[in-house]
This record gives sequence, C-alpha cells and structure tokens, in this order.
Amino acid sequence: MPRALLTALGLGAAAGVGALAWAHLETSMFTLREVTVPVLPPGQPDLRVLHISDLHLTPSQESKIAWVRSLADLQPDLVVDTGDNMAHVDVLPFLEFALAPLLEFPGAFVMGSNDYYGPSFKNPTRYLRVDARVARSVEPVPLPAAELAATMTAAGWKDLTNRRDTVMADGRRISLVGVDDPHLDRDEFPAALSGGAAPSGPAIDLHLGVTHAPYTRVLDQMHDDGSDLILAGHTHGGQLCVPFYGALVTNCDLDRKRAKGLHGWPGPRPDAPGGNGSTWMHVCAGLGTSPYAPVRFACRPEATLLTLTAR
Ligand SMILES: [Fe+2]
Repeated sequence: MPRALLTALGLGAAAGVGALAWAHLETSMFTLREVTVPVLPPGQPDLRVLHISDLHLTPSQESKIAWVRSLADLQPDLVVDTGDNMAHVDVLPFLEFALAPLLEFPGAFVMGSNDYYGPSFKNPTRYLRVDARVARSVEPVPLPAAELAATMTAAGWKDLTNRRDTVMADGRRISLVGVDDPHLDRDEFPAALSGGAAPSGPAIDLHLGVTHAPYTRVLDQMHDDGSDLILAGHTHGGQLCVPFYGALVTNCDLDRKRAKGLHGWPGPRPDAPGGNGSTWMHVCAGLGTSPYAPVRFACRPEATLLTLTAR
C-alpha cells in the first residue's frame, strides 16, 4: 500500500478516535440555556420556568446529580420535567436525591419511554433511522415509573399523564395539559373541558402543553387545544449534530430543524412577520444519553431556563 495512503488512513483513524473521545467528554458538559418567550398576558411580570428533560440517570453519574441539584439556585417559579429520567433499574434513590431541591418548587411532569423501560443495547445505526422503534428486539426491563410519579406528586408536582391540571406559580394560575409518551403510542389526549370552558376558579394566565416526545399529532392537538406554550424533550437535540448544520434526526416525526430550542407550531415562529397564529414550542435537548451510546457531538447536555414575558 502506498505510504501516502497509509498516512491518510492513519490520520483519518486518529481523527475518528479524537472525535469519539470528544463526543464522550461532551456528555458531561452540562449547560444552562436561557430563552425568553413573550407569551404572558400584557402587563404581567416575568415568570421563570425551568425545563429539564432526558436525564437518563445512572447511579454513578455524580457530576450530573450535583449539577441538577444546583439548578435550584435559579429559584424558578415553575419546574417542568418532560421525562426519560432513568437509565438503570436501581437509580430511583439517586434520581430522587438529584431532584429533591427542585421538588421544593411548583412543578409538573410527564413520563418518557425511559421511565417505563430500561435501556438495552441496540445496533448503533438504529439511531439514524427515521423510526428507531423498529429495531427494539430485546425484552425491555421495567423501571419504577410509578414510584417516581408518586415521589413527584407527593411533592406537589402535577402528573400530566394524559391529564389536565392547574398549578399556581408566582401568583399566576397556569392550566396544564399533558400526554403519556407518544413514542410508545401511550398518548390519549385529554377530553376538552365541557363547552370549551376554562377551569373553574381564578382566571387562567397561561395554558401549557407538556409531552415527552414531540410527535406532530400531539403538537397539533395541543395547538388546537389553545396552548400558549408547548414543552417537549425526547429528541436529545439530535445528540450527534453536524457543526453549522445541526441535528440529523429527531427520533420522531418532527422536522430536524426544530430538534431543539424555541420554535413555533405549526409555523416556524409565532412572532414571524405577518403572524401565523402558531403556538410557541420549546424542545429541550436534555441532559443525558443511553448508557450504551454515551456520546453527544455539537449538542451539549442542557437544561433550559425560560423567562416568560408579557406579550
Ligand atoms: Fe431521552
């Protein structure tokens, strides 16, 4: 083999190993992203919502546990957890320790597939398929989703598993609607309140839609339901992204350009010139990965602090 070709192959292999090492390192580069959403009724003061998602926690992830606990220093008015919290059958006490400071604030949650079933090794190429569910071949291990939900609800967080509810946050009354994980086809959108009425009691300041996976059928339902803001996780922001290009996949039927961050649904942005009546949508890239694919590239693990401002 010519020396030049050997040199090229060697450099290529070294670059591949370097990229893999970086991608593993990036999984621990926890980042707080901050966005502003002009969605509150005119004249209202700001409301700060901490959006966490896709922790995929294992007992040995001490730095992630410490970082999640430190998020309480933000003193959010509301915490929303969009699921995929667990990645190990014995992780519940570690997860409860990680979340404990956040459970002191008003909150709401939905579950993801990785709250119901433990991760299993899969062909790495499945990640790049449009519908990665087709490759599920190993019998899944149940995770303590019910126990996790009991801990959260005991702290006052609202369980939005195919449910509606309301929550008070900084004196504001927020109506909530959520679904069970659409990635597992467990979503059953809650029936509308009779006659389209608002929940009884004080006036509603904001209507939030919450889902783990942002499948378009659910986004349509939440838009039609009058949500002011939809919060979702699941995509990991693409997890392995191409710099200056972005996500390659979303692991659901959402387009890759909305794999993470603040967008609109169904239009690109609700404040687009001319206005399109769309709903604000925030997709959190999440804090974890499957323990069998501990890599992220150009897509740091994140939580997001959304500052809701008056329209
Ligand atoms: Fe996830």
